[in-house]
Amino acid sequence: MAGISPAEYAERRSRLQRELGDGVALIPGARPRTRSNDTEHVFRQDSDLWYLTGFPQPEAVAAFSAEEFVFFVQPRDPLMETWNGRRPGVEGAVEEYGADRAYSIEELPARLPELLRDRPRLFHSFGLDEELDRRVVETLGELRRQVRRGVGTPGEIFSPHDIVHRMRTHKSAAEVEVMRAAAEISREAHAAAGRLCRPGVWEYELEAALHQVFRSRGGSGPAYNSIVGSGDNATVLHYVENRSQLRDGQVVLIDAGVELEGYASDVTRTYPVGGRYRGEARAVYEAVLAAQQAAFDVIRPGATLKQIHDAAVRTLVEGMVELGALEGGVDELIESEDYRAFYMHSTGHFLGLDVHDVGQYSIGGEPRPLEPGMCFTVEPGLYFSADGEKTPERLRGIGVRIEDDVVMTEDGYETLTDAIPKRIDQVEAWLRE
Ligand code: GLY
Ligand code: MN
Ligand code: MN
Repeated sequence: MAGISPAEYAERRSRLQRELGDGVALIPGARPRTRSNDTEHVFRQDSDLWYLTGFPQPEAVAAFSAEEFVFFVQPRDPLMETWNGRRPGVEGAVEEYGADRAYSIEELPARLPELLRDRPRLFHSFGLDEELDRRVVETLGELRRQVRRGVGTPGEIFSPHDIVHRMRTHKSAAEVEVMRAAAEISREAHAAAGRLCRPGVWEYELEAALHQVFRSRGGSGPAYNSIVGSGDNATVLHYVENRSQLRDGQVVLIDAGVELEGYASDVTRTYPVGGRYRGEARAVYEAVLAAQQAAFDVIRPGATLKQIHDAAVRTLVEGMVELGALEGGVDELIESEDYRAFYMHSTGHFLGLDVHDVGQYSIGGEPRPLEPGMCFTVEPGLYFSADGEKTPERLRGIGVRIEDDVVMTEDGYETLTDAIPKRIDQVEAWLRE
């Protein structure tokens, strides 16, 4: 299965370490979260710690300097492991995860002074982990009190995000390979769910079909809460209840993608209930598809997500006028932003370990040009809610989005989700297979 090699994790750490100069960086893992009473949500590692180590367990803090990688982890504990599963422990942190030194997480408070002393710069993001924040503040105070004994305290504090997120913005060949594999699983999942789009079927049955594929093909599950919205539900952007029954003549918006090895795929297709796009839903679908094509037409190295968005908006507005949802000139409607009644989100976002991935969208106030290795979505839509007073009656209760995942290459781009049909004739044929 596609994955990230230990050598690549080591290379990522070296790149971070080379940028630290005489500083020290602290990267905490995620904490378990309570779901109800004494049960927890399934643990999901913090994306930065995962990116640098591939370490899957809670209660971990990585400390980096130019010279070494010191890892604090949960120690081996036969009793706890009986309840909660095997732990790599301190030994595994060194042997399997590349740490130069490792200690029990319990030792972090006692060892922080040693790690921070005489370091002019500290790379730590306050506000992410309260307990670590408190330890850092206490340690800084402790070191400062020793100044007369010649102890140096970090005088400058930076966020390690700037470095790690810059690295995460450009995907390596191995990362693209994982994201390609994720796209293939999402394709299978959409095939399974799309074929269930018949009158009388429930949205949660489609959700179950998606998740069955995600897990059975080795994914950790959905990369974000799956959206399965039929009829008017499709016009609620984050509809995740998924508990209505499909009716003839509707379209169903499915925004669902697998998480594989920590990497997200993010795919939306809008399927007809009963196998054929009909009436106004068909016309709305055509308008969104045309807008997505217009967006794709401007993608090339050096283009920006803003240019892609602007191209989608222009075609969507033309579509809204043709559909009778808006009246007036296209330029004026873009200028006034009246179209936002029916298209209220942006056309793309970076994609990677986080579904809305890290990375700067603008630099120096200007939209950032796309470079090889950057990965993002292209996801125009039109949403005519059932209670939209200004919406023509015949369009109400129709929502359509089409979303693909793209990675920039040296001389162009690759659409990772290209194998998931979206042209009307192709979708209809696919659902009949
Ligand atoms: N599924 C979240 C998004 O499309 O951005
Ligand atoms: Mn998206
Ligand atoms: Mn999506």
